[in-house]
Amino acid sequence: MRVAIGADHGGYDLKEELSALLHAEGHEVVDVGAHTMDSSDDYPDFAAGVATTVASKDAERGIMVCGSGVGASVASNKVKGARASVCHDTYSAHQGVEHDDLNVLCLGARIIGIELAREIVNAFLSAQFTGEERHQRRLGKVLDIEAANG
Ligand code: RB5
Repeated sequence: MRVAIGADHGGYDLKEELSALLHAEGHEVVDVGAHTMDSSDDYPDFAAGVATTVASKDAERGIMVCGSGVGASVASNKVKGARASVCHDTYSAHQGVEHDDLNVLCLGARIIGIELAREIVNAFLSAQFTGEERHQRRLGKVLDIEAANG
């Protein structure tokens, strides 16, 4: 799968580790930065990169890491077509895709470690939107909100 990944300084180390794991598992990784550790960088710059890459269909899924995952989620959701959430458990990571068509997973590197992050990422990337009528209907309502406020 083609996966966009990004992080600010709060998530930089975890992003580097996840990126290497994704490469090793055969995924095509689009790293939108940060490309160096810079303690003065800002998460919206990288969240915008991940979210626009996914929303434009240049990548199928995105992973955005900051300190808590919260800023990553807030900023990513400002991009039309991005559906981002912080998920720090495997259930949310796969159910978010299956029911809500989640396409950007946000992680907080100050909250979780590499092993849990790896399991969450695998749950997220392995899941597919079910397309069931009730989920499609709810997603349609979400998209209506987006369209009405664009
Ligand atoms: C950066 O210090 C930190 O605020 C950021 O990574 C993130 O946690 C924001 O939600």
